[in-house]
Amino acid sequence: MPLIAWDETMSVGIRDLDEDHQNLVKALNRFFDGFSAGQDRKSLDRLLDALLEDTQEHFLREEKLFAATSYPDAAAHEKEHNDLLASGAKVRDALRDNYDATISLELANFLKDWLLHHIEDADKKYGVYMKACDEQ
Ligand SMILES: [Fe+2]
Repeated sequence: MPLIAWDETMSVGIRDLDEDHQNLVKALNRFFDGFSAGQDRKSLDRLLDALLEDTQEHFLREEKLFAATSYPDAAAHEKEHNDLLASGAKVRDALRDNYDATISLELANFLKDWLLHHIEDADKKYGVYMKACDEQ
């Protein structure tokens, strides 16, 4: 069973970014499924790396949009992105040194909660702003 499922209530109203979020959900599920199925460390490392890389690319795409539309909450939003990437990289490095299934599960649950809250609070806020910009 996947850790997290995409549904329409998670939409931010911008197609490309919704697709990114769906891809992040898939990448997180792949990591979760990987360690649930007892995959080897190397495969898990690759899945986690792919997840963090996709996340970083997605954040950059959002941040470009903020710059292009002079989004007023850009600084606070980007701080959330940077904090997440820093914690993600820290845990990835710790797992690389010393693989631990409990830490992997904690990380997956942390990322799931982070993603759901971030989309609900921070991302939906820019969705409303971008929509208002489009209507002007
Ligand atoms: Fe975001």
